[in-house]
Amino acid sequence: MISKVSKKVYIETYGCQMNVADSEVVASILTDSGFKITDKINEAELILINTCSIRENAEQRVWGRLDSISHLKKRKAGVVVGVIGCMAERLKEKLLETDKLVDIVVGPDAYRELPSLITEAESGHKGVNVLLSREETYADISPVRMDLNGVTAFISIMRGCNNMCSYCVVPYVRGAERSLNYESIIHEAVDLFNSGYREVTLIGQNVDSYTLESDGKKIDFPMLLEMVAKINPKLRVRFSTSHPKDISDELLETMARHENICKHVHLPAQSGSSRILKLMNREYTREWYMDRISAIRKIIPDCAVSTDMITGFCTETDEDHKESLTLMEWAGFDFSYMFKYSERPGTKAARKYKDDVSDEVKSLRLNDIIALQSGLSAKSKKADIGKVYEVLVEGISKRSPDQLYGRNSQNKVVVFPKGDTKQGDYVNIRIEKSTSATLIGQKI
Ligand code: SAH
Ligand code: SF4
Ligand code: F3S
Repeated sequence: MISKVSKKVYIETYGCQMNVADSEVVASILTDSGFKITDKINEAELILINTCSIRENAEQRVWGRLDSISHLKKRKAGVVVGVIGCMAERLKEKLLETDKLVDIVVGPDAYRELPSLITEAESGHKGVNVLLSREETYADISPVRMDLNGVTAFISIMRGCNNMCSYCVVPYVRGAERSLNYESIIHEAVDLFNSGYREVTLIGQNVDSYTLESDGKKIDFPMLLEMVAKINPKLRVRFSTSHPKDISDELLETMARHENICKHVHLPAQSGSSRILKLMNREYTREWYMDRISAIRKIIPDCAVSTDMITGFCTETDEDHKESLTLMEWAGFDFSYMFKYSERPGTKAARKYKDDVSDEVKSLRLNDIIALQSGLSAKSKKADIGKVYEVLVEGISKRSPDQLYGRNSQNKVVVFPKGDTKQGDYVNIRIEKSTSATLIGQKI
């Protein structure tokens, strides 16, 4: 489309890794139709905000951002503003009513329509498409990598989610689960390795349920992971997110077999109380979760484990909360993402259960688990002192130009003096001390 030549697009991304990967697909679709990507919002003729609906405060951040963009739009005539991603799906009408600021609203399965919707918006009509699809995977689109380190990248291996966790909006805004063709995943990983990347993270809402039939052959997640690991021993492979109900010994054995499959599992527990887990529709119990952690410890003794926790879900009592604390303590998580329950309209929990834990209690409980986790994280880092880890160098430390940072296989950030090491190198670092967020060491 000639009219788009030299127009600049600025893309801002909120939410999870899936959105980061989607912004790269959007960048690819738009550069193919003549746009140039800019990282300066003031220079852009098209501003796209890729949004998240997971909790109310995630949406509030985007509303706040749209407010500040409206000033920009008033100053500069002809700027097109688009809201894409999960909020587009959920809040189409409300977004379009916002002071005529938003010109296009495009859901996660309609990004191929962006060029034509932009053309529509330029001629004064609102461009809208929030249709979800059972087939769209964007497998044929090679994402434009917008991360600047050139060492690590995400590869989306599936879209949507079929697990109706009662609190969660994802199945509503992302639609049904679809796995990408494994050939295009391998192809993407090979391309990245050949252009200097040294780590790929395979992402999906529930990677353990990846499944694809091709020529009568069924490919499951352990098989896919192994195929990616075999591309080159110098290509590290990570994955996220695993679901406790689906993570198999076979997957753990595959991880143990390949040194370049990173020794870290992100296994969101959400709660330590079987009663709450049932209400959450997580399809596992506290005992099942503990069994999966024990399996990880047995099969991969040096594996790091992290989790997500929600406090104050409907009907949660002090007793349930204590069970979350004791589970965290028992598991000894290396780190956790912790949230207050936020009711999402349309979900099963919103329809059927009362959001009956006060905000005050939710906050107190959140503080409890944050305090517990900071102790666990500190303990986990202290235990690393004196050990030697292979670190993949990602870049220059924000704190000091003389220091580099990277991560070990366990996903912990390691900082060390620069010397003659550069981005993309593997170096062995002996850990000497730790801070709250990082390990600090010396090259050996
Ligand atoms: N698919 C992944 C993660 C999905 S979203 C999984 O199943 O684990 C990331 C995290 O956000 C969830 O693990 C959960 O802890 C949190 N989350 C999701 N919905 C939420 C809600 N309504 N309120 C608070 N936290 C929520
Ligand atoms: Fe949401 Fe559950 Fe799906 Fe994760 S597995 S995205 S929490 S519905
Ligand atoms: Fe948010 Fe959508 Fe991801 S709701 S967490 S951006 S799938």
